[in-house]
Amino acid sequence: MFPIEKFHKLRTPFYYYDTELLRSTLNAIRDNLSADMHVHYAVKACANPKVLAIIAKEGFGADCVSGGEIEAALKAGFPADKIVYAGVGKSDREIELGLEAGIHAFNVESIPELEVINQLAKGKGKTARIALRINPNVGAHTHANITTGLAENKFGIDMQCMEEVIAIASSMEAIQFIGLHFHIGSQILDMDDFAALSLRINEIQNRMEAAGIPAVSDINVGGGLGIDYNQPDLHPIPDFCSYFNTYKQKLLLRPGQQLHFELGRAVVGQCGTLISHVLYIKSNPIKNFCIVDAGMTDLVRPALYGAYHQIDNLTAESPTDYVIYDVVGPICESSDVFIKNYGMPRTRRGDLVAFRSAGAYGEIMASGYNCRPLPEGYITEELQ
Ligand code: LLP
Repeated sequence: MFPIEKFHKLRTPFYYYDTELLRSTLNAIRDNLSADMHVHYAVKACANPKVLAIIAKEGFGADCVSGGEIEAALKAGFPADKIVYAGVGKSDREIELGLEAGIHAFNVESIPELEVINQLAKGKGKTARIALRINPNVGAHTHANITTGLAENKFGIDMQCMEEVIAIASSMEAIQFIGLHFHIGSQILDMDDFAALSLRINEIQNRMEAAGIPAVSDINVGGGLGIDYNQPDLHPIPDFCSYFNTYKQKLLLRPGQQLHFELGRAVVGQCGTLISHVLYIKSNPIKNFCIVDAGMTDLVRPALYGAYHQIDNLTAESPTDYVIYDVVGPICESSDVFIKNYGMPRTRRGDLVAFRSAGAYGEIMASGYNCRPLPEGYITEELQ
């Protein structure tokens, strides 16, 4: 499955993206979309230019959260009119970039932001298409750090003030109000959460209708579909059928309305792997430490969220001789631990280990702490 011979020749740690799996995943998404459904890949999950180019070439749109992401998306070949741009803190420069590029829509999160976009668009003689990000106050059964749709979260516009904000947006000269945007969280595996969001959107649309507000053209439900971190080999492709069916069945679209999605993790999560060499095995009376050359600087999810990534020894001599290790990195932080008390085949200095399911929020969240170089990212085609 992995080109191990080639791996040995590369400086570790690095990311490897299995593009065959990426393409199968994109096909699985496409197979489940109806004509009024559109997926904008959430660039924040992985902005490796080679990965972005593949997703763009397959015809998907992009969901961006900064000017830098808009630039990366355009460079990779995503058409501007398939780019949506979200974020609670868009700077003037970033808004101008979006206006100049002619992106499909700004997902707006507050009245002050609306005023600034209106002003900047007016200055350029342009009209900005906007969707209002509504905080649906729907909880998601996921890690507290990655839920976004509750009233306590900083994201979106409170449902109570929705009509007022719509009235303000509709009265602005350089603003065209085209949609509603939602996002309830990430790594969601319970389809009931997406069903709850759908029902909430139905309520909101009824409320708007009752207030005499014309139906918008875009309903954007964000992203959030999770992946199976526990069994990546068993479930390399997420269950897109159940996911999209939930929306098809529960969300009542008005005539002509288009349904937009912003999937990140589900697109790239399983195709990416962090490859690392084992530097040392060190034991004391209570522990065996497997010290690898990748650290929290390369994959921060375990340190930041206590996230689990399966670790495979790709070069173990005897795959049945199991030993319990704490797998740790070289960074000068006690939190630089990938996992504790993990059973792995007996591991030696020089072995190659693979941190699985690391395609999303892996390479992109890498840092240069301890003056470490950022990890490279390679795709299958480069290692053939
Ligand atoms: N749309 C919006 C407005 C978002 O905030 C996010 C993710 C997405 C779409 C894409 O969500 P996805 O389909 O990937 O779940 N660093 C964390 C995840 C943070 C997610 C932030 N927002 C992690 O490593 O788990």
